[in-house]
Amino acid sequence: MLVLGIESSCDETGVALYDTERGLLAHHLHTQMAMHAEYGGVVPELASRDHIRRLVPLTEGCLKEAGVPYGGIDAVAFTQGPGLGGALLAGSSYANALALALGKPVIPVHHLEGHLLSPLLADEKPDFPFVALLVSGGHTQIMAVRGIGDYELLGESVDDAAGEAFDKTAKLLGLPYPGGAKLSELAKSGRPDAFIFPRPMIHSDDLQMSFSGLKTAVLTAVEKVRAENGADDIPEQTRNDICRAFQDAVVDVLAAKVKKALLQTGFRTLVVAGGVGANWKLREEFGKLTVCMPSEKGRPKNREEKVDVFFPPMAYCTDNGAMIAFAGAMHLNAGREADAFNVRPRWPLSEIVK
Ligand code: KG4
Ligand code: ZN
Repeated sequence: MLVLGIESSCDETGVALYDTERGLLAHHLHTQMAMHAEYGGVVPELASRDHIRRLVPLTEGCLKEAGVPYGGIDAVAFTQGPGLGGALLAGSSYANALALALGKPVIPVHHLEGHLLSPLLADEKPDFPFVALLVSGGHTQIMAVRGIGDYELLGESVDDAAGEAFDKTAKLLGLPYPGGAKLSELAKSGRPDAFIFPRPMIHSDDLQMSFSGLKTAVLTAVEKVRAENGADDIPEQTRNDICRAFQDAVVDVLAAKVKKALLQTGFRTLVVAGGVGANWKLREEFGKLTVCMPSEKGRPKNREEKVDVFFPPMAYCTDNGAMIAFAGAMHLNAGREADAFNVRPRWPLSEIVK
């Protein structure tokens, strides 16, 4: 079965073709980043208009690359939410119109489920069950994933998402939108421990997280440096040190909470999904993650165990059509059909959770 996937929830138009027998055949993406950069953030109206412009050429690019005619498509999957209302509607209208014209089913996909399943697009796939850390610009959630469609929310950020904190902190440091990736680049040249920022909620008993206080800590540090230097500009090395300290704080909190989740569930596999999953420090730290598992029958006491960590391939970390086509293909037989072309800008993942 060949599924066309459409992603248009924010500022990336993604289209992909996933074949349940042969895997991913093509995936094309257009990012609106440059268009929004001059406004310092996503302008929803511009985003919707651009999705409309891109959807047909991206689809045709995929079909051409895969050598498949329109008639070869068996179903059209699209991101129904969460995301920007207008942007979602562009994708939904297109997906529904195309499916209607082809006489094929349309499959609504939850954007976060797409992210959650994206590591399954890699050659080396995780086995169920696993703990998933979803870290994007809009969400920071830790879930127990026992199978396709079987997700349990274990904890989440009570305020800013980790990616949002990266972007806001980058803006505060004068970096161009979207600053998360740029901040993490600069952190490479930052000296460890030149600044130390708090690790909010790291010791709380639950799996809840908080990142909004971190940008205040950064702001305080920036103001202090400015006052000391008597200038608005922050020296380059100091800025890089701040980037490093901020990134270290976020990654420390995420690692501590994920460890707790692994202990709580007893799972030994971790999957990281979402844009922040592209972060080098997070990959480095999670790559050496171990947890001290309590004793079990037939196993030695309190042994430190290496965790199997899976990251989606870089191209599928940020928003893309491949993860939507894949999630759609997984649901194809489950008979989840769309409620006309309604979109759900606010759609808690818990509503599709068993
Ligand atoms: O998953 P995604 O593409 O879109 C959402 O659904 O939000 O994630 C985008 C987020 C942005 O906040 C961006 O700053 C962040 O991922 N991001 C990064 C890095 N690359 C992207 N954050 C930290 N380090 C990176 N290398
Ligand atoms: Zn996303």
